[in-house]
Amino acid sequence: MSEKATLEYKGKKLELESVVGSEGEVGIDITQLRAKTGMITLDPGYGNTGSCTSDITFIDGEKGILRHRGYAIEELAEKSSFMETTFLVLYGHLPSAGELSTFEGDIRSEAGLHYGMKSHFEGFPDDAPPMAVLSAILNALACYNTELLTTATEGPAFTVPAAKIISKVRAIAAWTYRTSVGKPFMPPRPDLSYTGNFLHMMFSETFNLYEPLPEVERAMDLFFILHADHEQNCSTSTVRLVGSSRASLFSSVAAGVGALWGPLHGGANTEVIKMLTNIHENGIDPKEYVEQAKDKNSDVKLMGFGHRVYKSFDPRAKILKGQVDNVLKALKIDDPLLDIAKELEEMARSDPYFVERNLYPNVDFYSGILLRAIGIPVEMFTVLFAIGRMPGWIANWREMHVQSLRINRPRQIYTGETLRSYVPMADR
Ligand code: ACO
Repeated sequence: MSEKATLEYKGKKLELESVVGSEGEVGIDITQLRAKTGMITLDPGYGNTGSCTSDITFIDGEKGILRHRGYAIEELAEKSSFMETTFLVLYGHLPSAGELSTFEGDIRSEAGLHYGMKSHFEGFPDDAPPMAVLSAILNALACYNTELLTTATEGPAFTVPAAKIISKVRAIAAWTYRTSVGKPFMPPRPDLSYTGNFLHMMFSETFNLYEPLPEVERAMDLFFILHADHEQNCSTSTVRLVGSSRASLFSSVAAGVGALWGPLHGGANTEVIKMLTNIHENGIDPKEYVEQAKDKNSDVKLMGFGHRVYKSFDPRAKILKGQVDNVLKALKIDDPLLDIAKELEEMARSDPYFVERNLYPNVDFYSGILLRAIGIPVEMFTVLFAIGRMPGWIANWREMHVQSLRINRPRQIYTGETLRSYVPMADR
């Protein structure tokens, strides 16, 4: 028997069931609230609303804990690969050697893009925002796979579109970049790892194949692992919302890309570098910048700081910060932006404004410096976040269909005009 909560309004009482998660999180079940009382709950921004139960990812924001399927992100970051973590996020268990090999084979066989898609890329202006291109091409993929526009959660009807999206998103990213700089497309190589192939499609030239340093390939793979899932954030909720109408996996993840693009979400990794570059190039005193970020009359924010859920630290930021030093050292790069980032972090972490509001560096604070060192153009940063987040979006889409959830449809409290009569044009 679960504990009950009692809601009292105007002398009437309603008992509400509670749902307790495997980590002890408590949710009050209000699914019968409107039917029994005519009332709804109001929670703009959904800060207190659980939209589903999920077995995929657990976050304890107060303690800085992130786990996928029960495995700590720190351990996955140290011991796993992006492909293995992807399998884990999608299917709930670490794969056996045979399962991983089959999975990687499926991904490998989907690495290229249909040549007919070339004209789509060429149709965009050279300066088209890569997230717009990514979203459009993910939807366009559906046009080449109309037999896969189902809501299947098992068998090839699910595994094939899932493998196509996880695999082809790399080629879409690379083709987008290469089109924007006027370079020919580089076909994938079957001998390379998931991440090695991505770097190859981005940076190889016909007679000069790109050979990443092991530290670089590992750091890129780690970047993808750290972005693999993050429970019901803005983009994942979008994927679920769109998918709840029984829209296909292709259009659901394309919508997720739109949500991720914004500067308050995945777009923050781009904004962090723009902020650090601005401080560097214009000789702004970091102290002055921090003061501006605290000023409610300015629209300046310390980008890469703050998180809806993490209130002590973002474990992904901690892991990435360590990697940045490794990669810069391996590449013999001395990046002044890293010094500025560290200075900003130090200042903010001892400033009462940030301390009282529990604002800590999030995953985007150091990821931009890492990507920049690897040679990824800043406009592509959020696309790389999307590559990493694909397993999480797909796993959530699948879980929602396994649970047969109803179409997502929030309600509202109407605050506009009450009924009034139409006014003829002459009298207005
Ligand atoms: N710089 C300065 N002040 C901030 C910042 C920041 N980066 N973030 C939050 N605050 C302040 C807010 O102004 C607010 O102050 P107030 O209580 O005096 O009004 C307080 O801290 C609480 O912030 P909210 O905006 O209510 O927090 P919310 O949970 O709604 O937003 C968000 C979280 C969007 C991440 C926010 O912290 C932010 O805009 N950060 C910068 C953008 C960013 O880095 N986004 C990436 C997030 S991680 C990810 O999506 C992968």
